[in-house]
Amino acid sequence: MRIDILSLLPELMESPLGHSIVKRAQNKGLVEIYVHNIRDYGKGTYRQVDDYAFGGSAGMVMMIEPIYTLIEKLKAERTYDDIIFMTPDGERLAQPLVNRMSGYTNVMILCGHYKGIDHRIREHLITKEISIGDYVLSGGELAAAVLVDAVVRVVPGVISDETSALTDSFQDGLLSPPVYTRPEEFNGWRVPDVLLSGNHRLISHWEEEQALERTQRLRPDLL
Ligand code: ADE
Repeated sequence: MRIDILSLLPELMESPLGHSIVKRAQNKGLVEIYVHNIRDYGKGTYRQVDDYAFGGSAGMVMMIEPIYTLIEKLKAERTYDDIIFMTPDGERLAQPLVNRMSGYTNVMILCGHYKGIDHRIREHLITKEISIGDYVLSGGELAAAVLVDAVVRVVPGVISDETSALTDSFQDGLLSPPVYTRPEEFNGWRVPDVLLSGNHRLISHWEEEQALERTQRLRPDLL
């Protein structure tokens, strides 16, 4: 899978994309991620990328031309499954959409500034708008990092123990059961006996019960 991220603040993406599973996926050659600086496509000595809003509303607005030039350049090189804009008024991100996206070949993700992007970009260039929740971030970069992390971990082959991503919370519509490690007892707080029993049938029965109980108690809306 190839992911192209279009941003005015590429540095914001470096750390989230440069560690852990996302980094490993790139090292394994399963995912290629390119972060493009929109400013490189701005005009003039100052490489202008934003301007005052028509109608006089407060704040600067990202201009259509640099973004159009960059998107068209990328589109001429390959076909994209989607050109996504990160925005709080987009479709709310959830696991089914993440899973669907993990089958994409090429995807573009545009990070903008809410209220601050020429609306013609959204009308004419964007094919999908995604929100990561009902709150407003300063820009789309952190939201894009969340989306990329969620998608990459379910790309086939990225997590070597295939079942590991499949047992994530939400994959079967349930929250995950709790997990424990050594020591068996700390401060008098004991690991549930069943997990020390070595009986795999009992253990998976217990895990299923826990998943159901936690979902009923914490997220009944999922059931
Ligand atoms: N940009 C600003 N806020 C956002 C959000 N909640 N989700 C996605 N993109 C955003």
